[in-house]
Amino acid sequence: MSLKPDLSVTIRGITFKNPVTVASGTFGNTDEFEPYVNFSRLGAFVTKTITLRPRVGNPMPRIVETPSGMLNAIGLENKGLEDYVENKIPYLAKFNTRLITSIASSNTQEFLDMVKVLDRQAAISAIELNLSCPNIRDQGIRFAQHAQEVGDIVKAVRGATAKLIFTKLSPEMANFMDIAEISVKSGTDALSVINTIKGMSVDIHRRVPRISNVTGGLSGPAIRPIALRYVYEVKRNLDIPVIGMGGISTWQDAMEFIITGAHMVATGTSNFVNPRASLDVLEGIERYLTEKKIESIQSIRGTLKDAYGKKEKSSCSPS
Ligand SMILES: Cc1cc2nc3c(=O)[nH]c(=O)nc-3n(C[C@H](O)[C@H](O)[C@H](O)COP(=O)(O)O)c2cc1C
Repeated sequence: MSLKPDLSVTIRGITFKNPVTVASGTFGNTDEFEPYVNFSRLGAFVTKTITLRPRVGNPMPRIVETPSGMLNAIGLENKGLEDYVENKIPYLAKFNTRLITSIASSNTQEFLDMVKVLDRQAAISAIELNLSCPNIRDQGIRFAQHAQEVGDIVKAVRGATAKLIFTKLSPEMANFMDIAEISVKSGTDALSVINTIKGMSVDIHRRVPRISNVTGGLSGPAIRPIALRYVYEVKRNLDIPVIGMGGISTWQDAMEFIITGAHMVATGTSNFVNPRASLDVLEGIERYLTEKKIESIQSIRGTLKDAYGKKEKSSCSPS
């Protein structure tokens, strides 16, 4: 009889029962995916990004399918922090999973105002700072581009909560590794890698962009190799847990990220194609470990070798 592998992962002393979660904004706002996925089976549930005040988002059309992916420019539509605390947390708290709340803001003070409220919510395990949404054109919200600015936000939030902080980074930032590094120095507990990559699509008959915002964030299998490369670069250079995302559709995709060093993996665009993608990934990872007689996810994490099968030189340990 084979024993079940230990799928649990620990980030700064907080244990997640397994490494599978969902990417912010791709898994509904509350109960939309409940008919397909028992949320209690997930390692964590990540919310759509919440802002202090409600936002209507960008005008339609906001989504278009592209080869191996999609472009979206939702524009952070959400009902704001108050609605989240009053109506969404009581629902999400019912599940036996860790709740990660994604937030965005245009300035440090507003981040702090939000974190002060969220810090009092026992149901929340982690706060994900979305410093990286590419689809915002209005002045209501502006994303940090400079390493110092990111450092200031993370440091301020670190001072305001003992909850886990995940910092979500954009591959659009030319100084990506500087931003990753300053986030770590400023006290983030993990990095969420990556957000979407700006793209565009044109309807040649009407000669109009296919989404109203003109550009949108590209996601899905098209960006997976890019996402994996960023996870690799972070894990080679920094000793920090990573939540890997970008085009993960199958358990095989997820294992690429875990072997490269990701603590957790998130399904995003794949949830729209297969609402059960997160659970399929989870079940596949468990099967893979069982068949290979690998006792824990921790013992395979970050075990990437070089192209000749030799151990990769890395600055950080696989844990
Ligand atoms: C429709 C849609 C909405 C998204 N909304 C958010 C969001 O609110 N906050 C955020 O941090 N990322 C958001 N993202 C980015 C995803 O969380 C994820 O980082 C990205 O899509 C890459 O993963 P994927 O290729 O598996 O989708 C959104 C992505 C999509 C496709």
